[in-house]
Amino acid sequence: MSDGAISQTREPHAERDASSTTPVALSVKPHRRASSALSTSPPIMPDSGPLLDTYGRVHSDLRISITDRCNLRCVYCMSEDMQFQPREQLLSFDELERVARVARDLGVTSIRLTGGEPLVRRGVVELVARLAALDFEDIALTTNATRLAPLAAPLKAAGLTRVNISCDSLRPERFASIRRRGDLATVLAAMDEAESAGLSPLKVNVVLLRGINDDEILDFARFARETGRLVRFIEFMPLDAQGEWDRERLVPGREVFDVVNAAWRIEPIDEPGRVAPAERFRFADGRGEIGLISTVTEPFCGTCNRLRLTADGSIRNCLFSDDEHSLRRLLREGCEDADIERVLRRAVWAKFPGHAINEPEFLRPHRSMSMIGG
Ligand code: 5AD
Ligand code: SF4
Repeated sequence: MSDGAISQTREPHAERDASSTTPVALSVKPHRRASSALSTSPPIMPDSGPLLDTYGRVHSDLRISITDRCNLRCVYCMSEDMQFQPREQLLSFDELERVARVARDLGVTSIRLTGGEPLVRRGVVELVARLAALDFEDIALTTNATRLAPLAAPLKAAGLTRVNISCDSLRPERFASIRRRGDLATVLAAMDEAESAGLSPLKVNVVLLRGINDDEILDFARFARETGRLVRFIEFMPLDAQGEWDRERLVPGREVFDVVNAAWRIEPIDEPGRVAPAERFRFADGRGEIGLISTVTEPFCGTCNRLRLTADGSIRNCLFSDDEHSLRRLLREGCEDADIERVLRRAVWAKFPGHAINEPEFLRPHRSMSMIGG
């Protein structure tokens, strides 16, 4: 199969010995840098072993966006007049299963299904069952929970191991205005259903927006304490379709820590070798925990182990890089598994050290979160 389908334009990096698989602390450098900066020969991309990048990061977590559609229009994600991909551009379940199987054989152990809203795709329970048959350690799903209640038990029975529910306000009117549609009661009821189905502990994602819901930090901390749900405060990232992201509108994780800690003392949960983005804190009195996902102010790129499959079938090595490696055409031209493997390896190998949001030369990605998958 031709390599022409791969949109790789960058040189791999020469800074580290590629034979090492130990993640290192990285200073975040810009995504886009001149290839003339490379002074020595680039390391050779391995053609066996795990999915490794040139910084020694092993990739074991595949996030699959199964649709770019959604029944909501959250202000930090979509515009009202969002245009979606034609359905035939979405990978079929056969295609998704095939890519997942090849990824599993390359050491991927965790799958997360995202969107858009993954539960608006018909047949999602069947897809989970097909992926579960591939024996991943973990199959998780991120959802807005508007359609979760009736699906929670079937999804669990199909093999889903975890669910993350987005919920940005505990006040009904505000919830509706952030999401532009949908209602809080449905989401809270779905959380109960998911727990009854055995999908606990639930993770609850809260995107904080300055001046909009930043006065609810303590309400959400109390919610975490009272329900045992793992509330994760997420910094607003430059991935909204409207292009309205602005540093002034995000609430830094550090500030969330200070606000919560002043009310109830919290302490870090020690997680040696942590690769998850959330920094976890337990309440010192033993009731519940919260997580901080400080993507912008405290990048965790140095331990990133994630790669993404977009709804229209491209492998993307970072949320914030436009570097995409198309698989859809290859899959539809009757490629071999080895061709899929090569695309996965090249996509990971081309990964840059960090997202560079804090660098002056940072360029906003062209595609928004709902197209890439969170
Ligand atoms: N910044 C931060 N989080 C976002 N999400 C969607 N768009 C953004 C953004 N621009 C969140 C959703 C969901 C997860 C997939 O990502 O709320 O919880
Ligand atoms: Fe839909 Fe999730 Fe985007 Fe909200 S954040 S519009 S629920 S995809």
